[in-house]
Parts: sequence; C-alpha cells; structure tokens
Amino acid sequence: MRLSKFFMPMLRETPAEAQIVSHRLMLRAGMVRQAAAGIYSWLPLGFRVLQKIAQIVREEQDRSGAQEVLMPTIQSADLWRASNRYDDYGKEMLRIKDRHDRDMLYGPTNEELITDIFRNSVKSYRDLPRNLYHIQWKFRDEVRPRFGVMRGREFLMKDNYSFDLDTAGARHSYNKMFIAYLRTFARMGLKAIPMRAETGPIGGDLSHEFIILADTGESAVYCDRGWLETNVLAGDTDYEQDLNPAVAEWTKLYAATDNQHDPEACTLPSDRLHSGRGIEVGHIFNFGTKYSKPMNCAVVGPKGEQIFVEMGSYGIGVSRLAGAIIEASHDEAGIIWPDSVAPFDVGLINLRSGDAKCDAAADDFYRKLIAAGKSVLHDDRTESAGSKFITMDLIGLPWQLIVGPRGLAAGRVELKRRKTGAREELSIDQALNKLTA
Ligand SMILES: Nc1ncnc2c1ncn2[C@@H]1O[C@H](COP(=O)(O)OP(=O)(O)O)[C@@H](O)[C@H]1O
Ligand SMILES: [Mg+2]
Repeated sequence: MRLSKFFMPMLRETPAEAQIVSHRLMLRAGMVRQAAAGIYSWLPLGFRVLQKIAQIVREEQDRSGAQEVLMPTIQSADLWRASNRYDDYGKEMLRIKDRHDRDMLYGPTNEELITDIFRNSVKSYRDLPRNLYHIQWKFRDEVRPRFGVMRGREFLMKDNYSFDLDTAGARHSYNKMFIAYLRTFARMGLKAIPMRAETGPIGGDLSHEFIILADTGESAVYCDRGWLETNVLAGDTDYEQDLNPAVAEWTKLYAATDNQHDPEACTLPSDRLHSGRGIEVGHIFNFGTKYSKPMNCAVVGPKGEQIFVEMGSYGIGVSRLAGAIIEASHDEAGIIWPDSVAPFDVGLINLRSGDAKCDAAADDFYRKLIAAGKSVLHDDRTESAGSKFITMDLIGLPWQLIVGPRGLAAGRVELKRRKTGAREELSIDQALNKLTA
C-alpha cells in the first residue's frame, strides 16, 4: 500500500476528549473515529489490526475444537423472557420495536439465542459435547462509555458456548477455553493473568477473568508478585488430554479480581501481594444448567432419561484488545505493535520520493517484500524525512526500512526495529533476507 493513496487521517493535535494513551494514539494514527458516544468506525489502519486480532482468536478457538458460527445482532425479546433476563438486564439493553410492534433487541450477549438453536437441533447425548463460537458486534448501553474502544457501547466480541452432558465434561470444556485463552493472548504479545472472578448476572460457580496489568485499567486486581516475573507462553497443548494439571499450574499463584479478593482470607504475605489495576480482555464462565433448565434444553441420555445440558460461556473483547495492546506496548513516539497484530509488517520509507534512484529501489523492495508474503506500507509522499519518521513511529509498524540517496550510492539501506529503536545499515540483499527470514 502506498501511503500517498492510503486513507489514514492522522491528527496533529492530541484530541482533548481522549483520557488514556491508547485512545489518543488510535485517534492520532487515524485508526478509528467516533460515530456516537461509545460507537466507533474502524478506518483502514485500525480495521487491519482488528482483523489480525480476530484471526488469532479464531485460530485458537478452532485449534481447541470450537466451531465458528454467526448469529445475528438483532434478537427477539421472547427468548429473553423465557430465561427471565429481559427485565433483569435493565437499561444496558438496547430495546427496539419492529414495524409489527414486536419487541426486539440488539444482542448484548447470546446465551439465550444459542440455547434456542441448540435445543431445537440436538436431541441425543451422543451429540455432546459441542462448543460453538462467533465473532460479532454487541451492544450494551453502558452508563459511561469511555476510553475509546476499551469501554464502548457497540463492541466486537468473540463469545462461545459449550454444551456437555455432565459436570466433568463441562469442566473439561472450561479448561480447554482456559488454555486457549492463555495461548490467544500470548500470541498477541500480552501477559493476561487468569484471575478468579465473580460470575455476576450470568450466574454459575466457576469463572476467571483474563487481566492485563495496566495503570489505566478499570478493574482493581490483586495478585502474587510472582506473576510480575511470569511469562505466559503459547505452549503446545493436546486438548484431548486431562487439562486439570495445566489449569492448576496456571492458577497456582494467587490472582483475584476486586470482588473475589478478601483481605481477611488472603494468606499471601503482604510483601508478596501486588495490588494494582488491570484491563479485562477475556472472561470465562461455567454456569451449569442456569439456562438449559428454564429454556428446557435437554437431551435424551443413554437410558432414555432427560438430561439438562451443562453449559459455559466464554468471551474475548476483540475490539477492546486493540486498545489494550496499545496500553501495554507504546512509547513517547507512538504505538509499538507486536509483530502478530501489526497492521503492516514493514514501513518502507523513501527519503526522497521523486528521485529516480530512490523510487526505483523503494519500488523494488516493495515488490520483493510483497512477493515474499509481507505486508508493506510504503511512504512515497514528498514530505520531509523528519515527518516521515514521526509518522512511522506513531503508527508503530514493527520494522522500518529506510531508503535514501546517500545510502543507496553506497548500496546500503537502513533497517530500524520499532520496538528497540535499534538501527542497522545493511546491503539491499541483507535487508531483504532479514525481513523475509
Ligand atoms: N463495553 C465494552 N466495551 C468493549 N469491550 C467490552 C465491553 N464489555 C465487555 N467487553 C469485553 O468483552 C468480554 C466479555 O464480556 P463480559 O465478561 O460478558 O462483560 P462484563 O465484563 O462487562 O460483564 C470482556 O472480557 C471484555 O473484554
Ligand atoms: Mg466480564
């Protein structure tokens, strides 16, 4: 992509309404624009990141055996009356009437809808277990939408729902998601700590929130200081084996959200306890038969008996993650994208656009990098070198490949790693090899 043709409306000034760094940088880099309070349009740069994040989430869900579906955003109120949540959900639910005066709503979550699909389609214990997910926009009419995409009213969520015959099976489904979440966030370069969490209005007895420690986070959290030195890795997992030991390993160090932390009961010595703030990027619940009973979602068991299915639900804030990753990875100059979610792999800076040699060399790099499967944003504008560097640092692509007249005369270009700031002078071949290795 040529930057001269790319729709990336940057802002010079720091927008006054943005209180946290990720919101400021997303606006300044032209990633998003607010359409209404808590509702955002994703512009090309931001949308590329959103799709990268969604794709990692998708790959890890698929790997765990979950299957992708797509449920609608608009749901019928009747289903929510059946689970008794239509009134309970209160003002956060956006209620809509269609032309026939039927009550509809913009889905804030999908337990009812998926339970309805499931009960109408699955009759026998042989059809269990199943785990279905989708990546779909949600609407929650938050009282205080803020921090840009971090707490929106309309936001993109991956949510899935597991169906099992018994509690042991449900536990295994829960464990699979627990491990899949560790892998998902690690692949995005994040340390997301699984913390014991309250189950809230969804109900049930087993729940973890996945939290990134950040001063700007909305949740107060408590954890063993050991977590600060622990790397969460995306290790290989056999999802069919017993996952209880792996989950036990990742929950052995204390970690709890505010409402689960009881200072009286916490046995951690005070010098081991880290209390700080965090961003919730994922949340998993096991809620047993809370929906299957009232909604009569049952299968016929081996002896012909009716068995209400054991369910769990699991959410990842896909659009929130775009902001959360920036909160975790930026510096004074701008965003520092982890390689896995960067909107482009390489920012190619032509220091003297219009100069025949520079143009030819930059175009050649562009073609070769694209042919090697890399995505490249080519700054071919006739701006000053300084302003090109500022732009590239702001938008945070992992590599900057700098082509200028003086270097080229000696057959050399410069390669800068955004994360470390390290710059290297390399031959053209060396630079290509390094970027395509
Ligand atoms: N208003 C919001 N804006 C952006 N992301 C959200 C919002 N509410 C929830 N999320 C994301 O969706 C995930 C699943 O949501 P859930 O746990 O059901 O919501 P809540 O934590 O508000 O009860 C959360 O972990 C979070 O990452
Ligand atoms: Mg939650």
